[in-house]
Amino acid sequence: MTDNPASDLTLEEKASLTSGADFWTTKAIDRAGIPSIMMTDGPHGLRKQAGGTDHLGLASSVPATCFPPAVGIGSSWDPELIERVGAAIGVEAAIEDVAVVLGPGINIKRSPLCGRNFEYFSEDPIVSGVLGAASVRGVQSQGVGTSLKHFAANNQEFDRMRSSSDVDPRPLREIYLRGFERVVKDAAPWTVMCSYNRLNGVWTSEDPWLLTSVLRDEWGFDGLVVSDWGAVNDRVAGVAAGLDLEMPASGGRTDAQLVAAVRAGELAESVLDTAASRAIDLVRKSERRPVVAGPLDVDAHHALAREAAGRSIVLLKNDGGVLPLTPSQKVAVIGAFAAEPRFQGAGSSLINPTRVDAALDALRAVAGDAVSYAPGFAVEGGAIAASGRSAEELRAEAVSAASSAEVAVVFLGLPAAEESEGFDREHIDLPAAQLALLDAVLEVNANTVVVLSNGGVVALPFADRVPAIVESWLLGQAGGSAVADVLYGTVNPSGKLTETVPVRLEDNPSYGNFPGEFGHVRYGEGLLVGYRWYDAKGLEVTFPFGFGLSYTTFAYGEATASVTEGGDIAVSFPLTNTGGRDGREVAQVYVSLAGSIAQRAPRELKAFSSVELAAGESRTVEVVVRREDLAYWDIRVDRFVVEGGEYTVEVAASSRDIRSTVAVAVEGDAVVLPLTMNSSIGDVVAHPVAGPIVMGALGGFMGELTGADSSAASMMPNDEAMQKMMASFPIGRLVGFPGIDVTYEQVEQLLAAANAGAVPQG
Ligand code: BGC
Repeated sequence: MTDNPASDLTLEEKASLTSGADFWTTKAIDRAGIPSIMMTDGPHGLRKQAGGTDHLGLASSVPATCFPPAVGIGSSWDPELIERVGAAIGVEAAIEDVAVVLGPGINIKRSPLCGRNFEYFSEDPIVSGVLGAASVRGVQSQGVGTSLKHFAANNQEFDRMRSSSDVDPRPLREIYLRGFERVVKDAAPWTVMCSYNRLNGVWTSEDPWLLTSVLRDEWGFDGLVVSDWGAVNDRVAGVAAGLDLEMPASGGRTDAQLVAAVRAGELAESVLDTAASRAIDLVRKSERRPVVAGPLDVDAHHALAREAAGRSIVLLKNDGGVLPLTPSQKVAVIGAFAAEPRFQGAGSSLINPTRVDAALDALRAVAGDAVSYAPGFAVEGGAIAASGRSAEELRAEAVSAASSAEVAVVFLGLPAAEESEGFDREHIDLPAAQLALLDAVLEVNANTVVVLSNGGVVALPFADRVPAIVESWLLGQAGGSAVADVLYGTVNPSGKLTETVPVRLEDNPSYGNFPGEFGHVRYGEGLLVGYRWYDAKGLEVTFPFGFGLSYTTFAYGEATASVTEGGDIAVSFPLTNTGGRDGREVAQVYVSLAGSIAQRAPRELKAFSSVELAAGESRTVEVVVRREDLAYWDIRVDRFVVEGGEYTVEVAASSRDIRSTVAVAVEGDAVVLPLTMNSSIGDVVAHPVAGPIVMGALGGFMGELTGADSSAASMMPNDEAMQKMMASFPIGRLVGFPGIDVTYEQVEQLLAAANAGAVPQG
């Protein structure tokens, strides 16, 4: 950032630069040659409103390519693909003269109920971080900025503008902030958007710890922090905390508050200078964007949206090779979503697509008359609903179509009204009418494929009863074609789940602590988010995190792992496509540490790779686990610490399908805690300086305690148990005990010397 580009501006001008001119633009200062720039949603396409404006996707926007939302494209686990899509969004933004696209959203899917899960990548921070960084790199490669959102711990929509997410330090750092840290460090987003909520009682829009200490001082962020639209509670406190830009406009009201605060000496002018400088810096960055002349190549971007959608689909089940279909098979397509697709969620990310492909048309384009169609149920607001046909009639027609076909392909999904920004879902069930329809179809045709359209995870009570399930999420505008590509096998599915599909909502870790009450939501499950919980509790799941099938098969060879010079773990393993089709495998690396001093999940994802292999091809895959990703947050020293020890590295096809295991010894970071009179004997004995001395001094005492005839020893089963108990005894409490011939002062001296790193003499 330039030193102080705001130095020539008046106080009023500086204040004016730090809030919007209207819904989407910043204020210009013509006199100083500072133009206005536009920021718009985001994340999976451009939502530039030309006429009426709002932040909830109500008024329409210029046509843009609707790429798969994060729930879809995240399932590709492929940063390269996400970067290409990001670049395409960057091009569309550049054509529309948009300086910053408001995304990606990388909040953790803490509960399947969060209404906005379709906009987020995963229940895991490494997945969210790696994919979020790819998205940022892609958009910014076009000279267009991004806004990493929503910072932080915004994991529900219920009461999102007030609720306090009460999170302990370890889960906060290791789960909820880790992805943000990665994107900031790896991809340098131009802006970060603070969330609406409070974090541990403090508004994120005015939290100096979050916006300055963590984001800037620790992570090195040097861009601009923008408020979520309407997230500012106290503008002066916000600017002081590190919030640079309030959006949207406040009508000058809060600018005046800043000016008054500076004049009253309540806010240092230099703080306002910094915020204004960052705003100017953002404008200057956007001015360097190469001019991209339109018009948009609609077809090329639609083709990319189709490729991305194909890569987003997760094949959950395919017993007996029901899929792929062949064009000559007689197929009954059932379910209104086939003709009236759900392809995105509602709210601020709602895109006005350049076109929309329906699966039914795409299937017919492949197989013509071999495809029959019966809507089976009505989609709210759709053509079937308008036709007024009764539920019974629709079901009878669907059953008849299924009974005369070789295969029934049943499109089920969540009604659009259930998935939106602004509120959460109340359950994870598909509509009862759809489940009843499926049952009726299954009675007449066991050869049934279920295709799902949903932005949040749904329970699949029929998982054991249907031979094939295709999770097609919300796939963007080309989703219908992509579904046909996968059903007929022109695309070999390769997506894997970035979130667990639980048997029941009640099994979810946040259950009982979601969405909170009276303005607080307690993250009571702590570190055990998503698969970490299901694994720790040994719970059955319908489909585990990381799971997804292919039309081909993959064999993993034996993995090797070694520590690199930089301290990372280099993992390598042979991977072979053992089937008859070209395909892709998302190979995953999980890590655990037995006997850790800190609570840990049974396994944690640390790295992954999407590997393309032709039929029969074999390759050695190399994956790096970063040393920093091994670290836990140590609350004693308030920093990330890598614990030394023998780590178990698991190479896996899913979190519950481990293919090769290897151990690797990792040297730990030194954590030397200052010793006090309340340090336990265990701590003191472990101390490099004090330990040996204390051991000497305590020798006699321990002998006395553990001697066979002492009264203390008779309380405990054996010497080892006695020593364990003593290890937690604060050292200061021992002075004066029989057998301890050191004085309080001597212990104090020893501790002081140990803390100074010196061995006391004599
Ligand atoms: C959303 C943001 C969005 C902003 C602007 C807010 O309601 O939370 O994600 O970028 O509106 O539309």
